[in-house]
Amino acid sequence: LVSDLNTVVLKLGGSVITSKAIPERPNVHAVKRLAREVAEASVERLVVVHGGGSFGHPMAQACSRRPGDERLAGLSATHLSMLRLNHLVVSSLLEAGVNAFPLHPSSLLRVGGGRLEGLGLDLVSHLLDAGMTPVLYGDVVPDLDGDLTIVSGDQIASSLAVELQAERLIFCLDVDGIRVGNRILRRVKPEDLEDVLKFVQPSAPDVTGGIRNKLVEAFKASSRGVRVLFINGLKPGLLLDALRGLEVPGTVVG
Ligand code: IPE
Repeated sequence: LVSDLNTVVLKLGGSVITSKAIPERPNVHAVKRLAREVAEASVERLVVVHGGGSFGHPMAQACSRRPGDERLAGLSATHLSMLRLNHLVVSSLLEAGVNAFPLHPSSLLRVGGGRLEGLGLDLVSHLLDAGMTPVLYGDVVPDLDGDLTIVSGDQIASSLAVELQAERLIFCLDVDGIRVGNRILRRVKPEDLEDVLKFVQPSAPDVTGGIRNKLVEAFKASSRGVRVLFINGLKPGLLLDALRGLEVPGTVVG
């Protein structure tokens, strides 16, 4: 059974692997360190999904208001921007000794009525079975209505975690966890979700809904039996410990 195989899905937030303030500025230092932590943890079945941060988002934001062809060209440019970041993530993982392999959501996934319809699960499973670490990312994806939609890395990560019956889903953020006021919540239970969401607003320049959307996605996965954890990916060693299954500071969902 898939669930016996202890799959872990890891979402690397765009604000961890890039510097959000400057367009297309990667945080190379963070990417390389996280890649080394992934290598050291040597999780047998790991799927990595990364976000956009200063890649993808500014482009997507700008083109969303453009008419017709200009918007389409912008979506294509958005995808190319994500490809550049994906290249850095995958090559850093390879350099660290992880058998990473890029999978491109734009060619793999299908969206219908705003929902992820096709996940390309066969290919993901195939790579995992072959001993590879598939690396996906938030991307521009064909819509069954004949348009294209932006699908967040969070949505991809939670859907994959559910479908692969993953044991754990770990979100690396640039903060210590889910914060309400100046307090980091150690745990968000299903019955508290509505209340917590009131305090967590989508951040303005984020085309895919920021922390709020991450929480919603986290609950989708946790309600299907996945253990979901939010940690600070900018603090060295936390990802390594989380991947090893140790208790780490952060927010547990579910
Ligand atoms: C962004 O993915 C994808 C595009 C803008 C094309 P995410 O929404 O997962 O990125 P972060 O992690 O929030 O930056």
